[in-house]
Amino acid sequence: HRSYTITLLPGDGIGPEVVSVAKDVLTLAGSLEGIKYDFKEMLIGGAALDTAGVPLPDETLSVAKESDAVLLGAIGGYKWDQNEKRLKPETGLLQLRQGLTVFANLRPATVFPQLVDASPLKKEIVEGVDIMVVRELTGGIYFGFPRGYGVNQHGERIGYNTEVYSALEVDRIAEVAFKIAQKRGGKLCSVDKANVLEASMFWRKRVLEKAKEYPDVELSHMYVDNASMQLIRYPKQFDTIVTNNIFGDILSDEASMITGSIGMLPSASLGNSGPGLFEPIHGSAPDIAGQDKANPCATVLSAAMLLRYGLGEDKAAERIDKAVEDTLNRGFRTADIYSTGTNQKLVGCKQLGEEILKSVESNVL
Ligand code: NAD
Ligand code: IPM
Ligand code: MN
Repeated sequence: HRSYTITLLPGDGIGPEVVSVAKDVLTLAGSLEGIKYDFKEMLIGGAALDTAGVPLPDETLSVAKESDAVLLGAIGGYKWDQNEKRLKPETGLLQLRQGLTVFANLRPATVFPQLVDASPLKKEIVEGVDIMVVRELTGGIYFGFPRGYGVNQHGERIGYNTEVYSALEVDRIAEVAFKIAQKRGGKLCSVDKANVLEASMFWRKRVLEKAKEYPDVELSHMYVDNASMQLIRYPKQFDTIVTNNIFGDILSDEASMITGSIGMLPSASLGNSGPGLFEPIHGSAPDIAGQDKANPCATVLSAAMLLRYGLGEDKAAERIDKAVEDTLNRGFRTADIYSTGTNQKLVGCKQLGEEILKSVESNVL
């Protein structure tokens, strides 16, 4: 038996609902491949604020660092929205990403053929879309200094942040992106705002430098405003996208609507060493939390990424990917991906989870 320690961070809102499903799926798919887990459930976000007074308790970070991989649901909610920065659930997540040095956030946007009708975009546009957004995750405006509140030269009160990237930070994310593009369709589009921002001009220069090591990858550059338009106009032009922290945050939510729902998009956050962090790209969805309405697929598919990218357990990962497909084939849908007039069964988070488990159980690879 191979055995792994997995830190589970359910977090807030729908986080615990979707992590509970993903944990069961991970366990079953693992057991079919001779894998055992030691799950360590820890606090983060609002849940941690309410019990420990901070959004990322030291113990959570140390347990996460010592584990083989970390699976997170989501954090945040109305209750803590007015907190000062230091005491926001979101700050806990940012501290976790930085604490694990997971600078490369892989956010695949893949259209399942079963869900072409779930997208608000036309079938011809979304069919066959398969994009990998490589988002820089531990730098840029999220972490740059100076930042804060102050007063400007006219005596007006201001809030400010700084977009800053070092050569090392751009080089390492570019390297990850080129390697991924090489294994995929061989095309990499670097998205920036180099017509305006010095940080982007620098980014573009370093990406061009890195490109010399990857002559087999076709590199292009696009401004982020155009990219957000092109994603809707003709998403099939994209293979791999590499971009900074904030543009990647926005473009990946946008890309999720090509696939039908943000409830479908998983992610893997990786560093050069240590455990990876795996989480859906969506948030805690306070509008549907506690109602058994959340789509667990994004988290279940994140568990598959955990097996593939975090543990090198490709077979178990494949079992999960196939099970999600099979469940969709059998017509089961949560509300966010349900379309009327077809042979679909509307179910809640729990039942979709149970159907995925049945698919894992019955699937022969
Ligand atoms: P959100 O992603 O939580 O929700 C946006 C919309 O998508 C909502 O209508 C929600 O119901 C829907 N949605 C999201 N996930 C879904 C799922 N799995 N199934 C079905 N529908 C789903 O974004 P928001 O409303 O802007 O943010 C809510 C809170 O979550 C905020 O506190 C925010 O800071 C936090 N947040 C956390 C993360 C994270 O933990 N990684 C990511 C994004 C937002
Ligand atoms: C995400 C979220 C986070 C981000 C927030 C909650 C800090 O939107 O994971 O996409 O901006 O990175
Ligand atoms: Mn986001």
